[in-house]
Amino acid sequence: MMLVALTYFLIFLIPVYNSSEINCQLSSINLTGYIKQGDVLIGGMFPVHNFQIYPPILFTEVPRVQFCSTLQFNMFQYMQAMVFALEEINQNASLLPNVTLGFWIYDSCDSQTRSLQGTMWQLTRHKTPIPNYTCRGTSPLAVVIGDSKSFMSIPMAQLLGVYKHAQISYASSVAALSDKSQFPSFFRTTVSSEYLPLAITRLITFFGWTWIGILAEDSDYGLIGSQMLKEELMKVEICVAFYETVSPYYSQEKIQRIVEVVKKTTARVIMAFSTASNLYPVMLAIAKSDISGKIWIATESWASHAIFNKKEFLNTLKGTIGFAVPAGNIPKFKEYLYDLHPLKTTADIFVQSFWEEAFGCRWPDPNIDQVSLQEGSRTGNLCTGKEDLRTLDIQFFDMTNLRRVYNVYNAVYVVAHALHALYSCEPGKGPFINSSCADIKHFKPRQLLHYIWKVRFQNTVGQEMFFDRNGNPPTSFDILNWHLPSSGSFVYVNIGHYDFGVSMGQDITINTSAIMWSEGHVQAPISVCSNSCGPGYRKTILEGQPVCCFDCIPCSEAEFSNHTDATECIKCPDDQWPTKRRDGCQKKFIEFLSYREPLGIALAVISILGSLFSVSILIIFIGNCHTPVVKANNRELSYLLLLALVLCFGCSLVFIVRPTTPTCMVRQIAFGIVFVICISCLLAKTIMVIIAFRATKPNSNLRSWLGSRLPNTMMFSCSMVQVFICVTWLIMGPPFSQMNMKSQMGKIIIECNVGSLTLFWCMLGYLGLLATVSFIVAFLARKLPDSFNEAKFITFSMLIFAAVWLSFIPAYLSTTGKYTVAVEIFAILSSSAGLLACIFFPKCYIILMRPEMNTKEFIMGKTTGNLQKIK
Ligand SMILES: *[C@@H]1O[C@H](CO)[C@@H](O)[C@H](O)[C@H]1NC(C)=O
Ligand SMILES: *[C@@H]1O[C@H](CO)[C@@H](O)[C@H](O)[C@H]1NC(C)=O
Ligand SMILES: *[C@@H]1O[C@H](CO)[C@@H](O)[C@H](O)[C@H]1NC(C)=O
Ligand SMILES: *[C@@H]1O[C@H](CO)[C@@H](O)[C@H](O)[C@H]1NC(C)=O
Ligand SMILES: *[C@@H]1O[C@H](CO)[C@@H](O)[C@H](O)[C@H]1NC(C)=O
Ligand SMILES: *[C@@H]1O[C@H](CO)[C@@H](O)[C@H](O)[C@H]1NC(C)=O
Ligand SMILES: *[C@@H]1O[C@H](CO)[C@@H](O)[C@H](O)[C@H]1NC(C)=O
Repeated sequence: MMLVALTYFLIFLIPVYNSSEINCQLSSINLTGYIKQGDVLIGGMFPVHNFQIYPPILFTEVPRVQFCSTLQFNMFQYMQAMVFALEEINQNASLLPNVTLGFWIYDSCDSQTRSLQGTMWQLTRHKTPIPNYTCRGTSPLAVVIGDSKSFMSIPMAQLLGVYKHAQISYASSVAALSDKSQFPSFFRTTVSSEYLPLAITRLITFFGWTWIGILAEDSDYGLIGSQMLKEELMKVEICVAFYETVSPYYSQEKIQRIVEVVKKTTARVIMAFSTASNLYPVMLAIAKSDISGKIWIATESWASHAIFNKKEFLNTLKGTIGFAVPAGNIPKFKEYLYDLHPLKTTADIFVQSFWEEAFGCRWPDPNIDQVSLQEGSRTGNLCTGKEDLRTLDIQFFDMTNLRRVYNVYNAVYVVAHALHALYSCEPGKGPFINSSCADIKHFKPRQLLHYIWKVRFQNTVGQEMFFDRNGNPPTSFDILNWHLPSSGSFVYVNIGHYDFGVSMGQDITINTSAIMWSEGHVQAPISVCSNSCGPGYRKTILEGQPVCCFDCIPCSEAEFSNHTDATECIKCPDDQWPTKRRDGCQKKFIEFLSYREPLGIALAVISILGSLFSVSILIIFIGNCHTPVVKANNRELSYLLLLALVLCFGCSLVFIVRPTTPTCMVRQIAFGIVFVICISCLLAKTIMVIIAFRATKPNSNLRSWLGSRLPNTMMFSCSMVQVFICVTWLIMGPPFSQMNMKSQMGKIIIECNVGSLTLFWCMLGYLGLLATVSFIVAFLARKLPDSFNEAKFITFSMLIFAAVWLSFIPAYLSTTGKYTVAVEIFAILSSSAGLLACIFFPKCYIILMRPEMNTKEFIMGKTTGNLQKIK
C-alpha cells in the first residue's frame, strides 16, 4: 500500500525538485488554491482548467512544468456547488452548530501529477509538500472531495488510503475503485460503472435487440466495462456484432477501421463504452462519413456531454439513448451563481478567468501602464465588472439537468452529516475505545471514516443517501434520449429510470412514447442478425456464426412449433395432428361411415330398399302360397330364405353407425349368422332337388327322405354350427371398437377390431365352405331334367356370390377407413341382391306376369310328376 503510494509520489513529485539545488530542498512551486479557513477543513479537487498536452516525460531532463489551459465551465460550476453547499451548511443552525466548515480547493487541471500535488498540499497545508508533515495548526482536514476522472482519483485514493483519510469522488465511476482492499477510504456519490453493463443489458432486452455493436475505450473504464457488458449480454443470448477498441491516442488508421466496421455492420444498435473526449475523434469521423440510422447507446460519461451537442453530430447522434447519473436539484444555487463577482469573492482565484471566458473580456493587469489600459478599453475587450451574468444564455445557469454537480453537493452533505454525527457524540457512549468520542477539533482521519460509513440521510430530492460496503451510493440511472427540436441542438429528455436491486421487470421503466428515434421511426427499430422464426418453423444454427444468426426451417409434416424462435419442433399427441401451418395441434378428424354423409345415406337407402323388396316378394309369395310356383321346392324354405335376405339387407345398416363394441359384435355376428342361414337354405333346396329327382327313380329308398323335415333339420344344424362358432368367438375374443390413429395421417379411424382373428376366419371359412358345397351340389344338379329346376338358379347365384366375395378381398385390402366398411356393405348388398334376383325374380315373373304358366302342368313340363310327388 505504502509502496504504491510512494511510487506515485516519486514519479509525480520529483518533477518539482529543483535538481540544481545541492541541498535537495523541495522546489518552491507555488501551490495555491481557493481557500477559506474554518474549524474543520474540507479539501476539494476539481479540474477547473483543461490539461495542456505536453511531451512525454523522458527522465533525462527536468520535466517541464505543466500549464493549465482553458477553463471548463462545468467544472467551475461543480466547484461552486461545493462552496455553495458549505455556505449553506455553515448557515444551518441545526447542522453542525458552532462549527464553521472551511475549504481548500485545488485545480487539478485534468492531470494526475497535479491531483497528487494538490492532495499533498491539502494534507500538509504547506506550499511545498513534505510527506508525513503537516502544519495544519488547529483545524483538521476532514475529507478530500474529488477528483473528477477515475485516472486522477486512483493515485489520490492510493495516497489517501495510506492515512485512512476519507476521499469522496463525485464523478469517478471506474469499477476498480469499489475494491476496498485497495482503496479503503474511497467513497463516491456517483454510480459505479460496474452496474452499468447490467443496466445497458436490461435496456437492450427491453427493446428486444439481439445484435449489438460495441465500441470500447482502451482503458480500465472501457475494457472492464465492455467485458462485463459482454458477459451480461451472453447470459441473455444477445450477440455482439462487432467489438472495436477506441484508442485514447489519436490514430487515423484505427479510426478509419472503426468507421468501416460501423458502415458495414448490420447491427442497428451500437454501444460506446468510452469517455467523451476519446470518443470524440471517432464519432467525428463517423459523422463525416454520413452514417446515420444507428441507435447509439451512451454510457454515463458521454450521455449528456456538451462536446457532442454540435452541428456536425446532429444527424448521426439524433435519438441516442444514454445512461446518466440521476438528476437532482439544488435550491437557490442559481441565485448563488448569479451573485458571483470577481470583486466580491476575491478569494476565489477562478472567478476572474470565468468572467473573462464568459464575457470575452480581459481584466486589466495591475502592472500594466495606463496607456495600454486605455488602449485595451478602446478596443472594447477589457472587463469592467459591470457585466451582468443574468444576460448570459449559457448552460452554466441551466438548473434542469443537475447531475454530477448534484453529486458534489451530496458529497459535501455526506461530510457534514458525518461530522455532525461525530460532533453529537455523547461522551461515554462513543464508538471508540473505552466508549470514547472524537473531538471535532482534533479528530483522527479514521475516526471520521467510521462516521462516513454509517452516514444516512435524505437528500433534497428525497432520496436516502448512504454507502454500501464498497463505498458506493444507491445505484440508479436516468435514461436520456437525445431529442432534436427545431432549435438545432440536442435536448436530453429523461425517458426512464433504472434502479439496481429492484426485482427484474420493475428495475427498468421507460416511457416509450417519449422516445424520439433516429430517422423518424415511430417504434423501436429492430436490431437482429436474423429475423425470428415464426411458429411452424425451427431455428438452425449457421456454422461459425453467433447464436443470434440462424435459418428458419419449416417443421416436418407430423410436427409443430407453437412459439417464435423454437429450437425444436415437437410431435403432437397421438389424438392430435399439426395444423396446416404447423403452428399448433388440432384434434384429428374422426372418420367412420355414418348416416350423415352421402355415401352412408346411399348405402342405407339401398339396403332399406333391398329389405323392402325382399319383404314385398315375401308378401307376394304368401299371397300366392297355393300356386304351384310357390309350393314347388319347399315353400317354408323359400319363406325362410326371403326372411334371411331381409335380414341380410338389414344387417348392413348396423355397419353404418359409429363403431362401438356392442355394434361391432352385432355386425359381425349378424353378418355371419344371417348369411349362413341364406346359404344353408340354398344348400337344403339343392339337396332337396337331388333327393326329389333320385326319389322318382324306381325302388329308390330316398322317398322316405322327402318331406320338410330333412331340409329344416339340415338348415338348422348348418346354422347351429355357425352359432356355435360365433358364441365361441364372443367368449374367446370378441370384436371391439378401436381408434386407429396410425394408419392414416391426420385421421382417427374408428373401426372394429375383429378380436380373435382365428375365430373370425373360422366364421368366414365356414361361410365359404357352405357356399362352396352349395355351389358344387347345385352345379351337379343343374342338368337334372326339370322345367323349373332351381339348381340352375342356385348355381348361378352362387357364382355371383363367389364373384362378389372374391373381388371383395382385394378391394377390402386396398381401401382404408370408412371405405373399407363401405366396400364390405357393398359386398353384402350385392351378394344379397344377387341371391334375391337369381332365385326369386324368375318365380315372381311367372307369378305376376305369366299367371298362365303358374300351373301344375306347366311346371311338370315334359317330365311330369317329379315336383308334384315331392309335395
Ligand atoms: C510564489 O509566490 C511568492 C509570493 O506569493 C513569490 O514571491 C514567488 O516568486 C512565487 N514562486 C513561484 C515559483 O511562482
Ligand atoms: C438544516 O439541515 C437540516 C438537516 O439536513 C435540514 O433538515 C434543514 O432543512 C436545514 N435547514 C435549512 C434552513 O436549510
Ligand atoms: C454554541 O456556542 C455558544 C457560545 O459559545 C454556546 O453557548 C452554545 O451552547 C453552543 N452550542 C452548542 C450546540 O454547542
Ligand atoms: C510520521 O510522523 C510521525 C510523527 O509525526 C512518526 O511517528 C511516523 O513514524 C512518521 N511516519 C513515517 C512513515 O515516516
Ligand atoms: C480504558 O479505561 C480504563 C479505566 O477507565 C483504563 O484503565 C484504560 O487504560 C483505558 N484504555 C484505553 C485504551 O484508554
Ligand atoms: C410519456 O411521455 C409522453 C410524451 O412525452 C407524455 O405525454 C406522458 O405523460 C409520459 N408518460 C409518463 C407516464 O410519464
Ligand atoms: C405450446 O405447446 C405446448 C405443448 O403442447 C404447450 O404446453 C404450450 O402451452 C403451448 N404454448 C402456447 C403459447 O400455445
